[in-house]
Amino acid sequence: MYPFKRFRRLRQNEKLRTLVTETELSARHFIYPMFFTPGDHLREEIPEMPGICRFSIDEGVKEAREAFELGIPGVLLFGIPSRKDAVGSEAFSESGIIQKALRALKKEVPALLLVTDVCMCEYTDHGHCGVVKDGKVVNDETLELLRKVALSQVKAGADVVAPSDMMDGRVMAIREALDGNGFLDTPIMSYSAKFASAFYGPFREAAGSRPSFGDRTGYQMNPANSREAMREIQSDIEEGADIVMVKPALSYLDVIREARVRFDIPIAAYNVSGEYSMVKACAQKGWIDEKRIALEILTSIKRAGADIIISYHAKDATRWLKG
Ligand code: PBG
Repeated sequence: MYPFKRFRRLRQNEKLRTLVTETELSARHFIYPMFFTPGDHLREEIPEMPGICRFSIDEGVKEAREAFELGIPGVLLFGIPSRKDAVGSEAFSESGIIQKALRALKKEVPALLLVTDVCMCEYTDHGHCGVVKDGKVVNDETLELLRKVALSQVKAGADVVAPSDMMDGRVMAIREALDGNGFLDTPIMSYSAKFASAFYGPFREAAGSRPSFGDRTGYQMNPANSREAMREIQSDIEEGADIVMVKPALSYLDVIREARVRFDIPIAAYNVSGEYSMVKACAQKGWIDEKRIALEILTSIKRAGADIIISYHAKDATRWLKG
């Protein structure tokens, strides 16, 4: 008997290392987030998110097709409306930016899975995720709007709706609205454990959705709380969520792991804008190896227990995985 184990036996060459690899990243589990903006022939690079653009619909269709042809099955759509108002009317208008983008994408890239973010913050003039009364975001009145948003998106071609607003009861409200209109088969991917995070900073620049007063701590979760995240997930499952999400991903790998251990439902993790931009900025300075870092981060999210990874690195990672 040796007094120690020879772990290096299985590390001595590529074949053995590959044979015992536990976690495999694959483009088939990626979702690529995209921003749509009114106009034509637009590809505006977002300064805070190098490599990520706001697309007009014509250009966005090309980008989505490219992602699909690379092997990425789905996109998550965000809209930057031409006008904002107190109740975010463009979020549920038949001629809203997302509804138009959905119709174009469904027609041009029919096999691509279209996932929509259901929220108000990009569409309201105050930048909050719901109806504001006396300086507060009111829960139950917001549910009425969210039903309308989800329904209008599904009517325009959304395959999966993803509520990110963090109002209580929204999964049930959206499920009712969809079922009541015959959309029994449209899954809900709920942003169940969404934390009030500074990692959303670059996204808010991209979408112009920074709240004009206060912050989102009255509805998004306290980053210090993991047990509460489990209660949020549990309750979304009870309300009818088909997929639950943890967001952000990188600072919340323990939350992903805990959810994986406790629940049998598919779990998505959102590798958010700030996580992406930190890697990009460091890579631009030549301080890190972007490819290795990004793949290591994505692998860690998978290893923690996520089935689906939403990432701005999805296209690059897919290319890198092909070698
Ligand atoms: C909308 C929404 C946000 C993100 C996804 N959906 C912003 C926010 O909550 O402020 C962030 C995504 C990212 O940072 O990449 N509510």
